[in-house]
Amino acid sequence: KILILDFGSQFTQLIARRVRELNIYCEIHPFNKFPEVDSSVKGIILSGSPYSVRQDDAPHFEFAKHHKTLPILGVCYGAQYVAHFHGGEVLASSTREYGRANLDYIKPDTILFKDVPLGSQVWMSHGDTIARIADDFEVIASTDSVKVAAYHIAGTQTFGIQFHPEVTHSIDGKQLLQNFLVDICGCSQDWTPDSFIETTIAELKAKLGDDKVVLGLSGGVDSSVAAVLLHHAIGANLHCIFVDNGLLRKDEFESVLDSYKHMGLNVRGIDAKQRFYDALAGLTDPEKKRKAIGRVFIEVFDDAAHEIQGVSWLGQGTIYPDVIESVSVKGPSATIKSHHNVGGLPDFMKLKVVEPLNTLFKDEVRKVGAALGIDQNILGRHPFPGPGLAIRILGDITPEKVAILQQADAIYINNLRAAGVYDKVWQAGAIFLPVHSVGVMGDERTYENVICLRAVESLDGMTADWCHLPYDLLAKISNEIINNVKGINRVVYDISSKPPATIEWE
Ligand code: XMP
Repeated sequence: KILILDFGSQFTQLIARRVRELNIYCEIHPFNKFPEVDSSVKGIILSGSPYSVRQDDAPHFEFAKHHKTLPILGVCYGAQYVAHFHGGEVLASSTREYGRANLDYIKPDTILFKDVPLGSQVWMSHGDTIARIADDFEVIASTDSVKVAAYHIAGTQTFGIQFHPEVTHSIDGKQLLQNFLVDICGCSQDWTPDSFIETTIAELKAKLGDDKVVLGLSGGVDSSVAAVLLHHAIGANLHCIFVDNGLLRKDEFESVLDSYKHMGLNVRGIDAKQRFYDALAGLTDPEKKRKAIGRVFIEVFDDAAHEIQGVSWLGQGTIYPDVIESVSVKGPSATIKSHHNVGGLPDFMKLKVVEPLNTLFKDEVRKVGAALGIDQNILGRHPFPGPGLAIRILGDITPEKVAILQQADAIYINNLRAAGVYDKVWQAGAIFLPVHSVGVMGDERTYENVICLRAVESLDGMTADWCHLPYDLLAKISNEIINNVKGINRVVYDISSKPPATIEWE
């Protein structure tokens, strides 16, 4: 494996994604928590950073300990760090070095640049520049404004590059990473969904033996893939629980439960709609609604788990981005909503946790799911928030409002599917607005609620753009909703991007 040392760059996860796209396993670790290096580690990549090596609080790591024994690739800050603290000098650059540049010098026959043509476009993003290098450093690539665009330290496998090979604007960045990983580190490119499945199932078997595991299915990709992996490892000792909180999409509970049963999972569906509606009655504050839903879910789940004799593990579909420890960089915390089921395991459940997907990124979970033969209907689903429709009904929740929203949402989603745009949209859903507006139907004046349609494009939900859905499609959806959903006389489309808006309305 490859270790990526994170100095806080916004691109660190992208480096990991690129390494894994080359079918090589890697892990991200904060610079100040470098793990013990054993024989499975083939090389180290040092990330970029918002810091400058010239700052007093610049992040450090024990470079000297590793640079004679392991191949090291410093990227941006990583390259500057090595240069600065080993006999060279880094200064603030006089010209802005941001954006595209071209390599107008590449030292011939340099392994790192194998199959990278002269003139190759690279992406620069830095305010500092390497002004001087020590005698044992050799420049192996330059651009017209950055002489030390890449260097090699004689007698070692240590390299530094000033540009970012992980971003797609560095046209040959992937080739460069492959050269480092395969030719220099000697990694084999055999980390594939199939190899992951095989080793994970073997590990789960060894870890769990005859123990029983309980797992909450949500209908989403992660919990489904985690369940199928566990099912392959321990069969009927995996007990799945799927709770109907009354806040799912229309007919979702029945159809998803059916799919799970077809997949051979040992699953119990629990109708807890009324418990959730009772807990939500009269609540209007979004955070209070979230907390109530979280609390009731734990109660329902705990009751069900207690009915299984001798269970000792809790299975969870946690994925890698949830567990990567981020290097704290100055600036406001990103915690804006009490999101994403953080907080974890309630004390009283006292179960050990097994998380078979906690080394995978979302797209890798989908690939593993496909290799496991899971239905595209489940794998291709849009993300859906844990609190479900409760945060898409602004204000207080009643079963009647849920029923109205479910109908409108189903019309919306079915039309997206029929028009072939569902898979092009990252997330879509309808929102029930607690305002009444006037309309006419036949000779009668109506005074009814508004449905807002939301569809966004995004990579990870952190930022998002509203989708430019075709007008004809919006017109068709609007007509169908107003003509078929009693209680709705107006449909609007949300054209806000995130930031400053969020994807959900609450
Ligand atoms: P926002 O609204 O913050 O949403 O732009 C970003 C992504 O997170 C989902 N989301 C949630 N997921 N519990 C969840 O499990 C929540 O409370 C929650 N709130 C928002 C949202 O659907 C989007 O994918």
